Amino acid sequence: MEATQGTAHLVKVCPISELPPGTLKGIEFEGRRILAANIDGKIYAHDGTCTHEEADLSNGFIIGDRVVCPLHLSQFDLKTGEAVTSPAVEPLKNYKVKIEGPDVYVEVD
Ligand code: FES
Repeated sequence: MEATQGTAHLVKVCPISELPPGTLKGIEFEGRRILAANIDGKIYAHDGTCTHEEADLSNGFIIGDRVVCPLHLSQFDLKTGEAVTSPAVEPLKNYKVKIEGPDVYVEVD
């Protein structure tokens, strides 16, 4: 589901019930991957493509507040998008998260 807000799109990720603490959810919107994560009850969203060699981070796993890339095991901070361990060095782009009713949305421009 999608709604337009100015130049940004509000893209539905999933019901919040499908994203419990300590889990990831990947979606695709207009050819780009978006990764949502629940860290201690707060939802964060970033680009879902690893900045090293473009692996799909939704196939990775969470350790603490980091996602581990499934391909070469770079770790990204899910609160900031920062690349914490190599080989990735570039951060993930962040998206604004909105909770509306029972659902999680991200604002994509
Ligand atoms: S593709 Fe993610 S670390 Fe290489």
